Amino acid sequence: MTAPLIDPFARRIDYLRVSVTDRCDFRCTYCMAEHMTFLPKKELLTLEELDRMCSAFVRLGVRKLRITGGEPLVRKGIMTFFDGMSRHLGSGLDELTLTTNGSQLDRFAQPLWDAGVRRINVSLDTLDDAKFKAITRWGSLEKVRRGIAAAQAVGMRVKINAVALKGFNEDELFDLLAWCAVEGMDLTFIEVMPMGDMGEVQRLDQYWPLKDLRARLAGRFTLTDLAHRTGGPARYVRVEETGQQVGFITPLTHNFCESCNRVRVTCTGELYMCLGQEDMADLRGPLRASEADGPLEHAIRAAIARKPKGHDFDYSRQAVAGQVTRHMSHTGG
Ligand code: GTP
Ligand code: 5AD
Ligand code: SF4
Repeated sequence: MTAPLIDPFARRIDYLRVSVTDRCDFRCTYCMAEHMTFLPKKELLTLEELDRMCSAFVRLGVRKLRITGGEPLVRKGIMTFFDGMSRHLGSGLDELTLTTNGSQLDRFAQPLWDAGVRRINVSLDTLDDAKFKAITRWGSLEKVRRGIAAAQAVGMRVKINAVALKGFNEDELFDLLAWCAVEGMDLTFIEVMPMGDMGEVQRLDQYWPLKDLRARLAGRFTLTDLAHRTGGPARYVRVEETGQQVGFITPLTHNFCESCNRVRVTCTGELYMCLGQEDMADLRGPLRASEADGPLEHAIRAAIARKPKGHDFDYSRQAVAGQVTRHMSHTGG
């Protein structure tokens, strides 16, 4: 038996998030600059290297694999990778899933289902066409809606992830909730994190604490806290009047790092032990240095042994603290 991955704070690491590309067909204003310089292809892990790396993590006890980006579905040949990963489902891996902007789902829903993907997270912050265009710069809400419909048509469960943005989607709280109820989707709100330079003022201006959002919901509905977890950081409530489930991801107002079970790998093979810290370990070197997986596994274990306690994001002193320089598209959320 291989020993599981346990970090210095006795947390078991069994959730891996892998960004398969830094590219995206959107340019969400809180995530990317409009003119981004993307990585040259040779920097990226090949599909074969991604497979070898993820398979090593599964051998080391990872049970949940989430594919992210950029937008994962714009990576050329990505279905080859998903099809390969499906061999681990039921023998090591409990869940294979992705976080997507939904723009390509109408084409990919069926092949993803065939590869064993049963539950996906779609990032969507507004139901207003003009606002959607404004925040994604390049996106089409209509196309995303078609993608979501395609995913549901093949039988996938869809969770909507909305970043709570002050003055942007505050007024859509109840519309988003009602839409998810009608469509049978779960909904999770996320506090905006200081990742990638956007200017201090902008971040603070955007920040809508989820305790405020929750209070606003509780003004209209009865909320019951649920013990149920999905292996991610969200805490869920049930909205009694509609029966639906709403999640809160609160890196700023309530730190959930003590139960962290995950690490991330970027598309170039950098292993980040925390979304909110700069320390990382290179896995591409050991992957390319040897055809055997020993050096790779060694590098993974050495990195887990220095996983930090948590992030240092903090807006409480009316300033942005704990910012990390990389954009969210680099580590995939
Ligand atoms: P499920 O529980 O499987 O639905 O997934 P999840 O909530 O783990 O994943 P999802 O992709 O929905 O995560 C949503 C967002 O939560 C991410 O894009 C990040 O913004 C944030 N998030 C997830 N994990 C962490 C974490 O470890 N630390 C911080 N600060 N934020 C996180
Ligand atoms: N803070 C919080 N969430 C963010 N996302 C992108 N940038 C940020 C940020 N700075 C979200 C996206 C998507 C997920 C991958 O991360 O909206 O839901
Ligand atoms: Fe693309 Fe997601 Fe970043 Fe938007 S948040 S630009 S959809 S990677």
